[in-house]
Parts: sequence; C-alpha cells; structure tokens
Amino acid sequence: DQDQFKKVLSHAKEYGYVFQSSEIYDGLSAVYDYGQNGVELKKNIREYWWQAMTQLNQDIVGIDAAIFMHPTTWKASGHVDAFNDPLIDNKDSKKRYRADVLIEDYCEKNLQKADKEIAKAAKRFGEDFDADMYRQTNPRVMGYMKKATEPTARLAELLEKEDLAGVKALIEELEITDPDTGSKNWTDVRQFNLMFGTKIGASADTATDLYLRPETAQGIFVNFLNVQKTGRMKIPFGIAQTGKAFRNEIVARQFIFRQREFEQMEMQYFVKPGTELEWFEIWKERRMAWHRSLGMGDENYRFHDHEKLAHYANAATDIEFDFPFGFKELEGIHSRTDFDLKAHEEHSGKKLQFFDHEENKSYVPYVLETSIGLDRMFLAVFSNSLKEEKLDGGGERTVLKLPAVLAPVKAAILPLLKKDGLPEIANEIIDELKWSMKVAYEEKDSIGKRYARHDLNGTPYCVTIDHDTKEDRAVTVRDRDTMTQERIAIKDLKNYLESRVSM
Ligand code: GAP
Repeated sequence: DQDQFKKVLSHAKEYGYVFQSSEIYDGLSAVYDYGQNGVELKKNIREYWWQAMTQLNQDIVGIDAAIFMHPTTWKASGHVDAFNDPLIDNKDSKKRYRADVLIEDYCEKNLQKADKEIAKAAKRFGEDFDADMYRQTNPRVMGYMKKATEPTARLAELLEKEDLAGVKALIEELEITDPDTGSKNWTDVRQFNLMFGTKIGASADTATDLYLRPETAQGIFVNFLNVQKTGRMKIPFGIAQTGKAFRNEIVARQFIFRQREFEQMEMQYFVKPGTELEWFEIWKERRMAWHRSLGMGDENYRFHDHEKLAHYANAATDIEFDFPFGFKELEGIHSRTDFDLKAHEEHSGKKLQFFDHEENKSYVPYVLETSIGLDRMFLAVFSNSLKEEKLDGGGERTVLKLPAVLAPVKAAILPLLKKDGLPEIANEIIDELKWSMKVAYEEKDSIGKRYARHDLNGTPYCVTIDHDTKEDRAVTVRDRDTMTQERIAIKDLKNYLESRVSM
C-alpha cells in the first residue's frame, strides 16, 4: 500500500541505500544513486544471480560487452523501428503522458470500482456471498467490468494496426482527463523512440550517431560465434551478462522500479530449433526456483503469461512480484526464436550458425532469454524485508530482514565497553573475519541502541565482546530476526557466521 511504499522510500534514503541522483540540484527524474549500503546489496544480488548462472551451470558462461554498439545493431534488433511508446500531450497543462498508460489507468480505476461494489455487497450479504456470481450478474458491477476490460482490448488492436488517430479517438471517447488538472484538451498521439542517442567522434561532420543500449541482450547476440568457437560450446549452451541499459522512459514513477538508467541481468540460452518451448518451460521453473531460494515468501511471486507477444517472441511470460504497489513485472522470460541471430546475419552479411555434429548440419540456433532488472530486484528485496514488529514484552521495532546472503554488512562487532581491552579483542576478530565477509565495528552508544541501529541497517548478526570474553574466549552472537542470543567460542565464530551468510 501507499503507506508502506512511503516508508520504503524514506528508509532507503535514511540508511544509505538509495539517493535521488544529483539531489543538491533538485534531482534528475527517474535516475537514482546507490549509497554505501545500497551498493553492497546491489553487488550481492548481482553476485547471487551470476553464481546461479555461471557457476552452478556448466553450460553457461559470461561476457561483458560494451554499452556502445555499432548503430546497425539497433536496426537489426528492431529497436529503431519498433521500440516506441505512443505519447500524447495535454495542451493546457503541457504535460506529456503515455497514451496506453492513460487508458490502462482508466481500466484499473474501473476495476477498483467493481471491487469496491463487491466488497460492499459482501458485507451486506454475509457468509453466503458468492463474489464471482455477483460479478457476473449485478448490473452496476458488470458496467464497471466492461469499462475495465474493453478499452484494453481495443487499445491492443489499435496499436497493432499503428492507428494512432484511433488511440486519440478512444481517449476522447472515454473522456479521459489529465490526471493532474482534469483538462480534456489533448494533442494528437505520436510515436516516440525510447533509445537515447549520442555521438562518437570529435568533429561535427565525421561524428557517428550512436545509441546507448536499451537492453544488454544484443551484446550477447553479436558475440554468439566468438564465445561458441573460443569456448568450444555445444548447443544447448548459455551466455550471461549484467550491465547498464538506458531507456528514455516517459512514465517515470515508482522509484527505482522504472528508471532511465538501470541495470539488467540477462541470459541467452541457445537451443536446437524445435526444442525451444521445452526449454522455455525448464527456464520458467529454474528462474522461479531461484527467486524462491531467497525465502521471501512463495506467495509473493506469480507467472503472467503474455497473450500479446513482442515482435521477436513465440512465447513469453513474466515473473511478477508483489511490490508495495501490487503485483508487477520483475523478470521476463522469452522464447525469442531465431529472430535476433537471423537479423544480425542479414544486416552484417556474416553467418551466425552452429554446426551440429550429431545432426551433421548447420543451423541458426533458437534462443531462450531470461531478463531481470537488477534495480527492480533490489526494490523487491528491500521492500519485502522492511518490517514493523510488535515485541513480546510490549513495544515495537522496525527491522530490515534482508536475506542474510544479500545483506550489505554480515556482522557488527561490538565491544560492550570502550575499555578494559575489549576493543582490542574486537579488532582481532575483525582481522580474522574481514577476509571472508564485510563486517562493521561500533563502540558508541549502549548495546541496545547499537542492536536497534543494525536491525534498521539490515545486519543479520551482532557479535558482542564482554568482560567474560577475556576468560572464556567466547562472544555473544545475536540473531537479527529472532533476537535470540548464543554464546559462541571465538575459534568457531568464522565457521558459525560463514555457514549462515555465504552464498
Ligand atoms: N532483453 C529483453 C528485455 O530487455 P524487457 O522486458 O524490456 O526485456 C527486462 O526488460 C527486464 O528489465 C524487466 O523485467 C525489468 O525487470 C527490467 N527493466 C526494464 N525496463 C526497466 C526500467 N526502465 N527500469 C528498471 N528496470 C527495467
């Protein structure tokens, strides 16, 4: 809900996770910086993904392609011609909107009205109430449902035919108003390419127009043969990559969910033509299992299969996550056929084929793609981890229950007092632990305050050195989530922590 989302935003800033870009100049819209904790969480998510792809699978290798690519790449990929959003301006407010989003918001509002009616009726009718039946028979609810579904279907048809005048007519027919001012004074709808353009080279006449890549995938496709040959890879095999991508998003809202500069983690899996739909199912399951392995609640994920497919796909699904603003796309899994490799063959004049010794023939492989936004994953993890809890003895606490493998700081090392040799022991412990995990030292404030601070920071373990430590060479380890404490011998501490915080 909105309240929870506001808490996520302010917590992310207050604890050094995410800052607005160029904040001292009042910020840059839909661009964000990661702070001292955010950079660690982001790195750990990237690492968790990278390891799952390239270390746990013998048939997947990684690359790191450049952000700049030859401009023909984007002709071949379809991005120059098809990577467009339909935009509309309001003449009074001078604000720009995505026409499709205006229509989708209209539908969403009507859906909410239908749900409200149903909830009211449920209260009135009590236990025997049948919501589905009511939805299909109550005239008022049926009216809302019609308004919630029909425009989406008509929009899809219009966009398919590239009928932009029709999209404008639909907006007028539905009497959609500017969300800010209520004005109905719209311009025509026109297509707007989402790629950022730039130039390479110094002089104005010899400079070449370039794009900042809008997806990392194309760097993998153009290197397909380089990797296959030099790595002696046999089909099926995969290439993984993480890196920045750029899109001039028009609807820039929802924090780091939709940004203009973001990071993708993509894997292209090359298979024999005809086997792609089997692999599509396998990768759906594998990716869902990866998400669930973080223990953030199986009920927070669902698949959303696409009916309308992108120009390159013959099957597609999203893994959706229950963000504070509802279920939204976290990862896309696409069966991209041979669209990309074939297009690059055509545009480059070079063959991009695999010689299959078993079949004794060459072919252009088909491609399964898994594509997840690192920043979106960050938001999923962060928002899901922020909890407010009532404590047994009364009172409350706010705690950031990040999965321990992803937490920025794994353990806080806390001498009970700033004297009596306790800081020295703490430093010895740090010197041993720091080679395998990130730890933090703190000696200020009461131990209770320090625990509370590390709960807010997301640190899974606090290690306290007290006067007994000098006698028994043991420390107290406090668990962030259960708040239970255990006495652990210093010689066992590294193993104890490693087994709980490493990937
Ligand atoms: N190569 C396929 C591809 O790029 P996509 O569905 O456009 O497919 C894949 O993007 C993923 O990238 C999305 O599921 C999302 O997690 C992330 N993503 C896309 N646009 C984004 C944006 N503007 N800000 C943050 N993440 C974004």
